[in-house]
Amino acid sequence: MAKLAHAQWSSRMTFVLAAAGSAVGLGNIWKFPYMVGESGGAAFVFVYLLCIALIGLPILVSEWLLGRRGQKNPASTMSELARTANKPKAWAIVGISGIVGAFLILSFYSVIGGWSLYYTVNSVSGAFSGQDADGIGALFNGMLSNPGLLLLGHSIFMLLVIGIVARGVTKGLEGAVRILMPVLALLLVVLIGYGMSTGHFGEALTYMFNPDWNKLSAETVLAALGHAFFTLSLGMGIMMAYGSYLGKEINLLQTARTVIIMDTVIALGAGLAIFPIVFANNLDLASGPGLIFVTLPLAFGNMDGGLILGLMFFLLLTFAALTSAISLLEPVVEFIEERTPLSRVMATVVAGVGAWLLGIAALLSFNVWSEPLMFGLGVFDLLDTLTSKIMLPLTGLGAILFAAWCLDRKSVEAELELSATGKSVWNIIARYVAPAGVIAVFVTGLI
Ligand code: PHE
Ligand code: NA
Repeated sequence: MAKLAHAQWSSRMTFVLAAAGSAVGLGNIWKFPYMVGESGGAAFVFVYLLCIALIGLPILVSEWLLGRRGQKNPASTMSELARTANKPKAWAIVGISGIVGAFLILSFYSVIGGWSLYYTVNSVSGAFSGQDADGIGALFNGMLSNPGLLLLGHSIFMLLVIGIVARGVTKGLEGAVRILMPVLALLLVVLIGYGMSTGHFGEALTYMFNPDWNKLSAETVLAALGHAFFTLSLGMGIMMAYGSYLGKEINLLQTARTVIIMDTVIALGAGLAIFPIVFANNLDLASGPGLIFVTLPLAFGNMDGGLILGLMFFLLLTFAALTSAISLLEPVVEFIEERTPLSRVMATVVAGVGAWLLGIAALLSFNVWSEPLMFGLGVFDLLDTLTSKIMLPLTGLGAILFAAWCLDRKSVEAELELSATGKSVWNIIARYVAPAGVIAVFVTGLI
């Protein structure tokens, strides 16, 4: 099979762009701000940043390292590495649960991708122009209560993902990421500028960076941890799969730092763009998944050039969502292709249609099927909770435990090119701090 004798990424830059394409997406612009709003602000942001640095970074490095050593899809990589390290084959579960997690996330991710598409259309049609908060809110609620519209957006988005993955052109996207990511960052800067013009920027800064520790609960800490995994595409075997294309000469720690900085800057930028609008219009901080869709259109509808800027913004958001969604489908497809006689195209269609069907259940939970299904949650929230708060942390924990405890320590230290101090820091964090952090947060958050 051709992909086992993988080609390698042509350069570090190409790899960074592919990894950033997966990492930067709806998680940064859609999910992060509303989680901050739901969790009460700066204390959540602080814990989130801590999780990124102490848990996300070492797990990202571990996943890449495992993938580079295993050279296969995540499930095969884990069983192969377990075999050579004389460890139980059960470690393959880490790879398999990652693939299942990716499939589940793709289903609801595509629904939000559909929202972004619909808002792209709304931008050009001038639907935001001169609207006040009520008008923009009504537009959003109108969308949410219209299953046909949601289905249309979800279907178009998923078709795009399936089409790109089936044709195997995902590699061609790095060039686009290189250009479009900076433009997205620039648009956020413009929006932050608009936020400043509302006179409520200081309030937003305080809200995001001046912690009120009373707002912190075990639940918000678990939410912050889960989001650290989600935003860095960890615990899904995705970064592991990417690592299998990684050349030996690439420094994992430096590369991880670069990707994490990009991801974090975009997320914080989105928060700084959105919260001034929330305060200026007295909107509900805890409006949940609708937050960006009831705030940003207010900016676009009321600023000079808002029509074109809104169009660009939602197009770029859709594009960022697409590159992430592609990275979600890819490992599922590779797995099916390797384990069944299906061709790549058929494997893509099967996985994509499966996720599409599940996504329909998720989108119906916003309207006709809003009664809770389990644990007081509807399908959408259930999929989100199950993946971010349970599957991703546990799978990521498996990856770092394996890298830190099952692989030969000396060879890992050499591979990470660590100095003497670097070695102790890495070993303390990777062996104890990160795993203990995940376990502690996970256990207290669940009970
Ligand atoms: N990291 C992506 C984001 O923040 C979402 C994603 C999760 C992509 C998991 C791939 C895997 O939007
Ligand atoms: Na992200």
